[in-house]
Amino acid sequence: MAVNFAQDVTETVLLDAETIGRRVAELGAEISRDYAGLEPILVGVLRGTIFFLADLIRHISIPITVDFLAISSYSPHSSAGVVRITKDLDENIEGRHVLIVEDIIDTGLTLRYIVRTLEARRPASLNVCVLLDRPALRLVPIPVRYVGFTIPNQFVVGYGLDLWQTYRNLPYIATVKREILDGR
Ligand code: IMP
Ligand code: MG
Repeated sequence: MAVNFAQDVTETVLLDAETIGRRVAELGAEISRDYAGLEPILVGVLRGTIFFLADLIRHISIPITVDFLAISSYSPHSSAGVVRITKDLDENIEGRHVLIVEDIIDTGLTLRYIVRTLEARRPASLNVCVLLDRPALRLVPIPVRYVGFTIPNQFVVGYGLDLWQTYRNLPYIATVKREILDGR
């Protein structure tokens, strides 16, 4: 790209495309081993997991199914405590082995809500896979079985993650300049 359309908001590239790709391949191999014979259903949380889920499942070498859940969006300047499902699953997950695929866990409030909601539908098992774990601001403990990368306490965009619904299409993950977040 001659001019990087995100150069005014991004600070540094935290994870480049190659690094992400290698780790996602490892996660896919691990999931393939752990879920062999179980035909898991992978539940992607929209919209932040579009690339992660698409890349991850192409590294899974066992039969799986895929479904999606959408939740109310996150604002970096308001509490993420209030979460609501805006698009529910199409599949019945009772008795199924469910793996929730999420872009990032921060406070843990979003995943707590999703886990509780899906747990009530009595799946055979329920686990969580996140691309990014930012433990600095965790408010509630959530067991996460698969973590791509643990990142420092900085807001990030790219590879599906957004700032104000923009910058999802960056092929890498970059930190956002502090003044951009403060100035809003
Ligand atoms: P939590 O409820 O605080 O754990 O926040 C998790 C949700 O907030 C994720 O599903 C993301 O959509 C969003 N989120 C948290 N941190 C970031 C970030 O650094 N960039 C983009 N989205 C984020
Ligand atoms: Mg999200």
